[in-house]
Amino acid sequence: MVELLPSILSADFAHLAGQIAAASRGGGSVVHVDVMDGHFVPNITIGPVVVKSLRKVTRLPLDCHLMIENPDAFIPAFAEAGADWVSVHYETCRHLHRSLELIACHGMKPGVVVNPATRVDLLVEILPMVHHVLVMSVNPGFGGQKFIEFSLDKIRRLAQLRQELGLAFRIEVDGGVTCETVARIVRAGADLLVAGNAIFGAGRPEEDARALLALARQAAGE
Ligand code: DX5
Ligand code: ZN
Repeated sequence: MVELLPSILSADFAHLAGQIAAASRGGGSVVHVDVMDGHFVPNITIGPVVVKSLRKVTRLPLDCHLMIENPDAFIPAFAEAGADWVSVHYETCRHLHRSLELIACHGMKPGVVVNPATRVDLLVEILPMVHHVLVMSVNPGFGGQKFIEFSLDKIRRLAQLRQELGLAFRIEVDGGVTCETVARIVRAGADLLVAGNAIFGAGRPEEDARALLALARQAAGE
């Protein structure tokens, strides 16, 4: 089943609780939290302190996308703050297997993220360990960027690997998911759809989430 994950990066940070509630009424079912450190990506956002506050205002799972150097050092703090899913970038983990184990042993669902230039075949050995693979379909750092078309091939390849290996990890896509691109993304095999600007950019999160999810479900034949 396809799910919509509102990315609060494009929300009004002074009113996060209300923005999340609205996106949830529109069908958003997991909150995507972009954590950026100004080193791995050229932007700084939020950390465990804000996750702890979000935990108090929503029951939806919190999906923390760590765009930070040395993620292992912060995984316990995210667990403590109430994160449900945590994903780490392939490009930031010297010992990816260890990082994924660390997330799981803190009771959270582990995910791995690949930048646009990173091949998904590099993940074959660790696929049995992950709850989700996050395909970046823009270069991480900012909302509102254009979808990179070759991401569709990476999603198809992951869906093929999932079938060949008899696994059940979910395929998440992040960056440039809009009413224009979502059908192709879903048909390629993605089932977790992150959207920031398309939900929060026009100030109508409930309506815009609902419309985007309807298109995704239609493309999935649900
Ligand atoms: C970008 C973030 C995304 C971002 C997506 O580095 O990881 O989650 O919010 O934004 P849109 O949906 O606007 O492309
Ligand atoms: Zn993200």
